[in-house]
Amino acid sequence: MKKFLSILLVLALTLSMFCVASAEGKKVGVAMPTMDLQRWIQDGENMKKQLEAAGYVVDLQYANNDVATQVSQIENMLLDEVEVLVVASIDGGALGTVLQQAKDAGVAVIAYDRLLTGTEYVDYYTTFDNYKVGQIQGQYVVDKFDLANTDKTYTIEFTAGSPDDNNAGLFFAGAFDTLKPYLDNGKLVCVSGQTQFETVATPAWNSATAQARMDNILAGYYADSLTGGQTLDICLCSNDSTALGVTNSLVAFGYTAENIPVITGQDCDIANTKNMVKGLQAMSVFKDTRALAEATVKMVGEILSGAEVTLNATYANGVKDVASFNCTPVFADVNNYTELLIESGYYTAEQLAE
Ligand code: BGC
Repeated sequence: MKKFLSILLVLALTLSMFCVASAEGKKVGVAMPTMDLQRWIQDGENMKKQLEAAGYVVDLQYANNDVATQVSQIENMLLDEVEVLVVASIDGGALGTVLQQAKDAGVAVIAYDRLLTGTEYVDYYTTFDNYKVGQIQGQYVVDKFDLANTDKTYTIEFTAGSPDDNNAGLFFAGAFDTLKPYLDNGKLVCVSGQTQFETVATPAWNSATAQARMDNILAGYYADSLTGGQTLDICLCSNDSTALGVTNSLVAFGYTAENIPVITGQDCDIANTKNMVKGLQAMSVFKDTRALAEATVKMVGEILSGAEVTLNATYANGVKDVASFNCTPVFADVNNYTELLIESGYYTAEQLAE
């Protein structure tokens, strides 16, 4: 009997040690905005895979770009007793009381990629250096047209992201601040005069909306651009979904890979990477969602184990400075996409084949 009891004790001890080592099956809720855009599908898959590998139970939800849906998904996660919430918001300022409910329940909240704004109930933020993304786009234009040395004048039109996404303003500011000296000295001219974020923003980052706005700009200011009239050289687009809309507009207007303006982007979405290979989009910014997931999973572990949380940035959210971890965005174009995207295992060659 004694021997039996000690075997039982050893078994119980081994089991409890195993549970500690495997994150004890703690629940983590991951709220993503939409499956419409490829990057969020990738983010969700990476988060789930990496959290499960670390021993967590994951509740991953997509909200179809609908704020009310996201709020109710988060409420259900709280009812389900998640211990950490990871939220990539649709509208960073619209989650309101559900975040306070999380706080009251002792659930840590990590804003994922997009900052949660106007609230004190956000504990941490993991993202890519958003201002830097815009700087990479702007600097590409400066270098491509040798703006520091040229005597020529080039024309540019801007397309930014969604006004309810804190990132959108940062991307635009990074690009605009980099280009402003050349708008000021006349080497860059925005013929439509639309250079304010509010004017060039694209609600919900929607491709069709960006396309329709570009159709109007082409008809209004560049109608003769293919027949010897006012030319358009650069379309500064904040991300790939807006770049796609702008490219579609230009192609429908009659532009081809031979004469299309320089178009910038961000995310290295599959359709846009294919366009880079075809010569229809000049560059993108690669934000490796595996690295963001890794940083976030590490943060979840640090929070739950009471360890010091690894941080390297802060972002002001209107109420407080949110302790943050910035991952590094990387320039991508036709010359390095194979190494960045295929050799690194992010995409297969088949996914990028026509
Ligand atoms: C992300 C971008 C993305 C955009 C549209 C932003 O918050 O940082 O990577 O292109 O949302 O989904």
